[in-house]
Amino acid sequence: MSQDNVSIHGIWASRWVFILAATGSAVGLGNIWKFPYMAGVYGGGAFVLVYLICIALVGLPIMLAETVLGRRGRRSPVNTLRNLAIQAGASARWSWAAVMGMIAALLILSFYSVVAGWSLDYIIGMGRGDFVGIDGEGAGARFGALTADPLRLSLWHTLFMLVTAFIIARGVVAGLERSLRIMMPLLFVLLIILLGYSLTTGHFMQGVEFLFHFDLASVPDGILAAMGHAFFTLSVGVGSIMVFGSYMPKKSSIGGTVITVALLDTAVALTAGLALFPIVFAAGLEPSAGPGLMFVTLPIAFGNIMLGQVFGLLFFVLVAVAAWSSAISMLEPAVAYWVERTGWTRVRITCLVAFLCWVVGLGTVLSFNLLADARFFVTDEAGWHLFKWTEQGGKTFFESVDYLTSRIMLPLGGLLFAVFAGWVLGRDVFRAELALRHPRLFPVVYCLLRYVAPLGVLVVFVTELFK
Ligand code: PHE
Ligand code: NA
Repeated sequence: MSQDNVSIHGIWASRWVFILAATGSAVGLGNIWKFPYMAGVYGGGAFVLVYLICIALVGLPIMLAETVLGRRGRRSPVNTLRNLAIQAGASARWSWAAVMGMIAALLILSFYSVVAGWSLDYIIGMGRGDFVGIDGEGAGARFGALTADPLRLSLWHTLFMLVTAFIIARGVVAGLERSLRIMMPLLFVLLIILLGYSLTTGHFMQGVEFLFHFDLASVPDGILAAMGHAFFTLSVGVGSIMVFGSYMPKKSSIGGTVITVALLDTAVALTAGLALFPIVFAAGLEPSAGPGLMFVTLPIAFGNIMLGQVFGLLFFVLVAVAAWSSAISMLEPAVAYWVERTGWTRVRITCLVAFLCWVVGLGTVLSFNLLADARFFVTDEAGWHLFKWTEQGGKTFFESVDYLTSRIMLPLGGLLFAVFAGWVLGRDVFRAELALRHPRLFPVVYCLLRYVAPLGVLVVFVTELFK
């Protein structure tokens, strides 16, 4: 049964626009902010090793699956899964996998917007010259002052969310291409400049050693963290790639496209890590500093190089742009779904959904200051508590949302997408939609999708349970 579904939300002009949009979705705070601090917290090399393996063996196949499903279904992820399941004679309940993904994407957006707001604050800071000649201590104090101020955080969070909503309300197919084509390469150039600075710190090899000293013995510790981040960084498991896949023109090959996106994403993350850690060591900072790592480290570099103020300003502008191009892909699955479901205008739906994310984001804002002691999932001598006021242990609101999405919802969503594409969709449909340029590779790809990716996720889940 070959049913050619048609998108009602538009189609990209070419495969290149899909690559741009998917790269825009993938490359973001995950690469520049989250990857370095996660690697720092989980001890470096072992984390990076598991992360790279997960990208190749789990993330890539699932990204492929999402793109195939999206282009085949041509609807929001929820309706894509529903329709494809019905067409394949399976249960329409498969759509629940996409519902979970949609919720995960909105939850991620709620804190993503807050962190992206930090870079907006830093744009102003750079422009004002806050960082000229700054050292580690000064940079730490500057960051601490920002996160301690709920009003300032809320302001930037609001601004970021408004712009995200504005872009989504206009529709992603229009206008995305022009901005991303310039901004993305520019971001990479600035990372290279930072890398150049790192080379001059005298601690470059220490940074390399930290990131690439693979020590198998310490692997199990951060294994779920590393896998979760592989999902996060590729934007897979939530339907973001699926929804962009549904706007992909019929006649473009999916395999090469997906590999390009994953390679670009990995290159940006590794470059960011290589640029950052030498500065961390040179300034005598702790690699395990946590979410503030990039915001404490990079200003030191910009504060101490020629034209640092200009480069720094530009850098944080580009970080914000990269964050926007990711944020829109978190909003799009839900907006597309509710437009299909209610027939209301994009503008109206966007306002509603973005407002919801904004409200949840306030929880993250407060978790850095007024509600820092409001902790979830606390284990102490008295046992386990879902919620408790305490200064120690457990997870703040921000940490809880991050944990719930990256370590549970994304891998679970990805697992379900892979199983659906590998076991429910049907081999012929999958093969036809994938249209590999080298058909002899098909069994390899299909095997990765059916066995390796799902088992990989399961093994990591089980390992985590027994660690
Ligand atoms: N991949 C994005 C990043 O690395 C984050 C993201 C996650 C985007 C999930 C969409 C969906 O910053
Ligand atoms: Na990423």
